[in-house]
Amino acid sequence: MKVLLCGQLDSAERQGWLHALATAMPEAHWLDLDAARREPAAVLAAVVANPAPGSLQGLPKLRLIQSLWAGVDRLLADSSLPAEVPLARMVDPAMSAAMAETALWSVLSLHRDFFSYARQQRAGRWQQLPQRRADELRVLVLGSGEMGRAAARRIADLGYAASCWRRDGTPLPGALAETDIAINLLPLTLETRGLLDARFFAALPAQAAVVNLARGAHVVDADLLAALDSGHLRHAVLDVFHQEPLPAEHRYWQHPQVTVLPHAAAQTDPRSAAAVAVRNLRAARDGGALQHLVERQRGY
Ligand code: NAP
Ligand code: GLV
Repeated sequence: MKVLLCGQLDSAERQGWLHALATAMPEAHWLDLDAARREPAAVLAAVVANPAPGSLQGLPKLRLIQSLWAGVDRLLADSSLPAEVPLARMVDPAMSAAMAETALWSVLSLHRDFFSYARQQRAGRWQQLPQRRADELRVLVLGSGEMGRAAARRIADLGYAASCWRRDGTPLPGALAETDIAINLLPLTLETRGLLDARFFAALPAQAAVVNLARGAHVVDADLLAALDSGHLRHAVLDVFHQEPLPAEHRYWQHPQVTVLPHAAAQTDPRSAAAVAVRNLRAARDGGALQHLVERQRGY
């Protein structure tokens, strides 16, 4: 079976993936884009990490596009993506565990004022802040999928009042009114783009915090900065941005109430994810059931 491996991978990352994939599926032949262009009819599947638009055109026998990313918004934005080929996203328990750890760290840091204490240290200031119990903190995770559920479980395990928001539950403004920390783990779709806007922030109680671990385009940056500058929100932890890397001149970098992470909340780990991808590759080859298929119409 010939499989195209392509996308945003530097040469070390590509080598890492090739090693992990070839170990999990020694019978496959792994092609880069140039090799695939030389024999397009031989390529039966593509394993992709946000490939450049147009990369998957002209492969007439393609049976599966397997994303190495959990979020497929960038893939779906490529109008040349072959419409009839099944698209699977990455679902790996190791990735969900990493996301749950980042979400938990955000909650602990906000609850125990570690971001404020770090600021105080830089200013040489010694001042204890009021201490609250974990069960007094209400954490709302937006999105009840693989990532959202893993994060909410991990946070609840430590005694926080954590829950996932679902579209068929309490309407969002009512849920936000009862929230001290809102964590975004929604996919980026037409419905969710720009959801974290001025109305969203205003629905949160004063001194609430926001954590965005999903996609930058969920947030209206100017509205978030206004909510922080006015003192309504006390802090934002941001892992993802409209433009990545975050431009050097962006206000987020220097804002005292913003913590910036370089899209590192949950990276795909070839050691576990290769086995997930290979299960689907073998199913595509053998006519078996494919897992974690994206519903293109709904966008995730
Ligand atoms: P998933 O399993 O597909 O879950 C998505 C969840 O969002 C589902 O529960 C879905 O509800 C819900 N949802 C979708 N649209 C909604 C809407 N309009 N209103 C309310 N709920 C809605 O996805 P996942 O694996 O948890 O990943 C979520 C996102 O995390 C990815 O798309 C990606 O953007 C982001 N991510 C970021 C990183 C990082 O390092 N920062 C790493 C991995 C993933 P239903 O159950 O009703 O369908
Ligand atoms: C990372 O952001 C992913 O979607 O896997």
